[in-house]
Amino acid sequence: MKQILTYPNPILKQQSFPVTNFGLETQAVIDKMLDIVGKSDYSVGLAAPQIGKLQRIIAVSEIEGERTRLLPLINPEIVFFSKETHEDYEGCLSIPFKVGLVERSTKIRIRALDRNGNKIKLKAAGLLAREIQHEVDHLNGLLFFDRTSADKIYNYTIKDGKWVIQKQALTAEGVTL
Ligand code: CO
Repeated sequence: MKQILTYPNPILKQQSFPVTNFGLETQAVIDKMLDIVGKSDYSVGLAAPQIGKLQRIIAVSEIEGERTRLLPLINPEIVFFSKETHEDYEGCLSIPFKVGLVERSTKIRIRALDRNGNKIKLKAAGLLAREIQHEVDHLNGLLFFDRTSADKIYNYTIKDGKWVIQKQALTAEGVTL
């Protein structure tokens, strides 16, 4: 996917700026992000810096059974992290063919704005909580590399839609964020 910046592009290490204008330009960035996540077979989330926009915008997927709802969050702030954490494989569109075992809080609470600038509050658990933590990290110039140790980063290939993690010769139902 050509439009996605990949590591080590220096933009990925920068802080993004809060969105203050909800006009056409911002709407176009949001639409583009939703389009990328919606069309991707294997990515469930995206942050604006990954398409070269240093704006605090993320798009995540809320997956409920067969249904997936795409959710844009503007200026998201995680205001609560559960002490309970969970370690799982995590990939990133900006870091092709690498996955990391990353520990994340299992539950979080978020304050954000919707695409019209209205305040929203939400709770997230499990995969959605992981997605949001990963994408908010992007807004602060952090990649999953920065959240784990080198011995927990592996190369992988994709076979039949699943990751084949090479070092461990295991197959995982991972997520790319
Ligand atoms: Co990512």
